[in-house]
Amino acid sequence: MKALILCGGHGTRLRPITHTMAKQLVPVANKPVLFYGLEAIRDAGIIDVGIVVGETRGEIVQAVGDGSKWGLKVTYIQQDEPLGLAHAVMVSEDFLGDDMFVVYLGDNLIKDGIKSLVDEFRTNNPNSQILLARVNEPERFGVAELANGKVVRLVEKPEKPASDLALVGVYMFDKNVMDAVKAIKPSWREELEITDAIQWLIDKGLTVDPHIINGWWKDTGRLDDMLEANRIMLDTLAPRVEGHIDGESEVLGKVVVEAGAEIINSTIRGPAIIGERTRIINSFVGPFTSIYYDVTIENSGIEHSIVLENSTIRDIPSRIEDSLIGQNVEVVRSPLKPTAYRFMLGDNSRVGIL
Ligand code: DAU
Repeated sequence: MKALILCGGHGTRLRPITHTMAKQLVPVANKPVLFYGLEAIRDAGIIDVGIVVGETRGEIVQAVGDGSKWGLKVTYIQQDEPLGLAHAVMVSEDFLGDDMFVVYLGDNLIKDGIKSLVDEFRTNNPNSQILLARVNEPERFGVAELANGKVVRLVEKPEKPASDLALVGVYMFDKNVMDAVKAIKPSWREELEITDAIQWLIDKGLTVDPHIINGWWKDTGRLDDMLEANRIMLDTLAPRVEGHIDGESEVLGKVVVEAGAEIINSTIRGPAIIGERTRIINSFVGPFTSIYYDVTIENSGIEHSIVLENSTIRDIPSRIEDSLIGQNVEVVRSPLKPTAYRFMLGDNSRVGIL
């Protein structure tokens, strides 16, 4: 059995962060989202992994390499335009051959992994197995309608959803799906939808088994989802201190302090993670916060947030909350006169001023 991880696409909903990086590499609890997927696939006993890449190919290749770090054998598959999930499957035909395979969307996070689901697929051997989860805003997803435990209809992002059962971004197929992805036409958003390909299988009388998952799952495509994913995954970390905490500091609850990090005259209240070589000085880092590597936080407070590498937060008088701060960002008090806000913000940035 093989796995196909989809890492093409544009990541428009996480701009400006995704102007400069692949959305699958944004870290959750200081680990790129994609790495959770790689671990889940490895734990399901799959070794042969194809990663579909587009314009962010370079950084994905740099982060994952040949996959040997996870014991995987990774092949990169180029998709020149993000023409849809079914299109991504189509361009992977040579890699997939006649094998059964799992499609895993690179921005999806399933807390409990996929081992039991893959085992179920292997045992029951349907033509396809889909995962469904009850959600609050089904119109944001592919939505399934079931009757007597069978899938009768799948609609991509319907205006009036027939149920609250969203398609989770993990799908299992046998080779029949290749006929489906070739037969379907682009949707209203000009994409070849995997949802339509699965509907095609149903219409042809092939077996598509639904599995409703009860565990936590997230499509991390938006800021709120990213922060929630961060909250959930931080809570699973085992506390560990490899950096330096001075005698004036207090570290409470589940906290990871990575090697080379320094906590000086500060309070860290977990769950939180402080990345390698990051310095927290005269500051407060509150619950559900992930600070990546080489960051400086000085005379400031932050909670329920994610800060990416090489950024600086200094002398900010009010607490920062619910924020995603990108790479190489400076959030500092302006020393210049006259007193004024001074910004240099990328396209699609958002700032909340007191
Ligand atoms: O997250 C679950 C949802 O994922 C499902 O409920 C929907 O039915 C499914 O269509 C998909 O919806 P999204 O609109 O959220 O998909 P998105 O465009 O975010 O792409 C998902 C992943 O696949 C992401 O890592 C980028 C990658 N991708 C996307 C496209 C359109 C590709 O590799 N190639 C592509 O052409």
